[in-house]
Amino acid sequence: MRVLVTGGAGYLGTHTCVALMSAGHTVVAFDNLSNSSREGLRRASQLVGQHVPLIEGDLLDPAALEEAIHATQPDAVVHFAGLKAVGESSARPLRYFDTNVSGTLNLLGAMDALSVRRIIFSSSATVYGATEAVPAREDHALLATNPYGRTKIMVEEILQDLAAADRRWSIGILRYFNPVGAHPSGKVGEDPRGVPSNLVPFVGQVAVGRQKMVSVYGDDYPTIDGTGVRDYIHVMDLAEGHVAALARVAATSGVNVWNLGTGRGHSVLEVINTYADISRQPVPYRIVGRRPGDAAVSYADPSKAERELGWTASREIAEMIEDHWRWQSTNPDGYGD
Ligand code: WQD
Repeated sequence: MRVLVTGGAGYLGTHTCVALMSAGHTVVAFDNLSNSSREGLRRASQLVGQHVPLIEGDLLDPAALEEAIHATQPDAVVHFAGLKAVGESSARPLRYFDTNVSGTLNLLGAMDALSVRRIIFSSSATVYGATEAVPAREDHALLATNPYGRTKIMVEEILQDLAAADRRWSIGILRYFNPVGAHPSGKVGEDPRGVPSNLVPFVGQVAVGRQKMVSVYGDDYPTIDGTGVRDYIHVMDLAEGHVAALARVAATSGVNVWNLGTGRGHSVLEVINTYADISRQPVPYRIVGRRPGDAAVSYADPSKAERELGWTASREIAEMIEDHWRWQSTNPDGYGD
């Protein structure tokens, strides 16, 4: 299939482009390069030996979206593009509602106008809120605890209403838990702008000497060692989950929701100690206060995706960290652009 990947030059986008091309699909990336790089796409193309055209454009430019869809004539769209920093969303809610909600409405309008009605939407486990209902199941109540999470719930509801109104649409909503790691080649990986807010990229920057120490946000949670527990999923498992979801979306109509997680949780200190062991680098840390809005424990019940997509996350935490360290240590300054 021909697939237009919005946000295709980003962390999840580049890895998913690699997985889609490896599965025989043709991909075109649409990206405004605000938090991504041409170099990431160039390397993804090199890895598979297939060129990934980049259409530079913005979700807030409906004409650019229509032009990209008209030029690409895609069979489906994988929609990653958007803003994703939880803390920033509380400081700049309008920017998040504009980009994530209005931007997605622009995309859906352009798709409908050109009769492209298959989409995979990048949602997030954050829609489950900081509840203690674990493992999280797709039929659990949704609870936004920040504007970022609210934008994800809003777009999920828009997609549900769209599918109910027009049976020509086929929609896959994927709720990601904590994507980490990098392609095993070490050629593509996560290259966050500025200081990383997520744990694993921050730990990697401490191990490679770009940051001094990790601040552990609380060790007084009711968990194995008092620190937060999350369902870390290898980015290549996540990418392969998109290939599986695309096949299902291409074969059906209506809307479906799937968790993309491993169903297993690891604590902050487990991640730090595993990273130090694998990288053989010191990873100093200090315990500080809890981060507002954090849940103690979050992990998926992945059985629906296993049952309906024939997909299971197969890579363990050690492999995630080995692959992340290979990327981080061979690209200490990311893509460098
Ligand atoms: C993981 C654990 C922190 C940083 C967020 C978004 C989610 C998705 C993934 C976009 C927690 C602790 C972290 C640090 C720490 N993003 N931590 N020190 O918050 O589970 O999920 O990113 O889709 O939507 O909510 O991920 O990596 O920020 O935190 O102690 O410097 O590490 O408290 O327990 P999170 P995270």
